[in-house]
Amino acid sequence: MSNIVIRHANIVTPVGNSARRGKEMDMLTVIPDGAIVISDGRITYCGADRNLKAELVSECHESIDACGRVVLPGFVDSHTHLVFGGYRPDEFEWRLKGDSYMSIMERGGGIQSTVNATRVESYSELKKKAEWFIDRMVSMGVTTVEAKSGYGLDVATEVKMLDVIDSLSKDADRKLRVVATFLGAHAVPQEYKGRTAEYVDFMIREMIPAVKGKAVFCDIFTEKNVFEIDDSRRFLQAAREAGFKLKLHADEIVTLGGAELASEMGAVSADHLLHVSDQGVARMAESGTVATLLPLTAFALREPFAPARKFIDSGAAVALATDLNPGSCFSGSIPLTIALACIYMKMSVEETITALTLNGAAALDLASETGSIEVGKSGDVVILEFENYRMLPYYVGMNCVNTVISRGRIVAHN
Ligand code: NIG
Ligand code: FE
Repeated sequence: MSNIVIRHANIVTPVGNSARRGKEMDMLTVIPDGAIVISDGRITYCGADRNLKAELVSECHESIDACGRVVLPGFVDSHTHLVFGGYRPDEFEWRLKGDSYMSIMERGGGIQSTVNATRVESYSELKKKAEWFIDRMVSMGVTTVEAKSGYGLDVATEVKMLDVIDSLSKDADRKLRVVATFLGAHAVPQEYKGRTAEYVDFMIREMIPAVKGKAVFCDIFTEKNVFEIDDSRRFLQAAREAGFKLKLHADEIVTLGGAELASEMGAVSADHLLHVSDQGVARMAESGTVATLLPLTAFALREPFAPARKFIDSGAAVALATDLNPGSCFSGSIPLTIALACIYMKMSVEETITALTLNGAAALDLASETGSIEVGKSGDVVILEFENYRMLPYYVGMNCVNTVISRGRIVAHN
């Protein structure tokens, strides 16, 4: 038995077991002098400190006085590529000088360059690197992270990546919850160049059966000159039939109809959406597919930010995530994500908090497990440095997390 109590907390949380849509994203519950009890990893009390029963407190082995500071749900980073071989700083410099992300990819660099490095890097090298990122993420308040494969593009390396991801959830001191996504459809590998349909056949025939049970989600880079709509639909149908939940990299570089396809297929989320059409926004608002926006990628690629306001004002559910990867966005910064969402995407601080907590959880189909501070949910909470949650974007790009509690255990104290 391990029980922990947090007293005199300014609790700030969205509530519910599903994504908050449209105007609901702006509504947070605030308990000014609150207390939270976490017993064996689950929240068993969340309410006014003065109503906390003495016997509940006496059962707690650890007591934290938040001294009026803000306590939020742990952040959910629902889109990352945190396992990868090598680095691509040269491409970053080429882009600074005007090269485009897609032209580098078409020359055989980009994702293929990380694929070459990942195929030769050992399981333990890949794991060590990912653990370095996990430690940084935890210190920024992340208690749930999604991690994608997609730098193998052959059966053996995709399986190696998913095994690394699985081990991260089991060891790494179990600091956070890790959700695995199979992204064999990240690019057409060199050996299939010009034969996209054959690669899709190969994934359906050989890869999907090989990774079944190793990932919850299946994702695809639906993009012009990568996997276009018909190939994407065919692949996603096969993945869905095999029991995977679906995600898409949609409308990232050009408007292609990825958002519409995600809605049609009942995908849990469609991600990026920098170039989503108005029709795509409307379809996602109808279907409830979560719009996962990744402002760090737009920032790093010098692209326009995704139309967060259009999504929210149309009644859609928006989540925010980092997209940490070695190419388009080599950052897993939660504080910078918050700043960009508020400054450039015109999201309110309340909407931003919802997008990084409950809606991030919904983007992983985990909204009844985490993403809010409510009795019955996992004990995933973050204590900030200050007493007013509106200070969050004001500290531009600075980490203001004091203590991180993940499944009832203190995993970071800055
Ligand atoms: O989300 N666009 C596709 N995938 C990643 C980038 C991966 C890479 O460049 O290595 C993204 O932006
Ligand atoms: Fe991505």
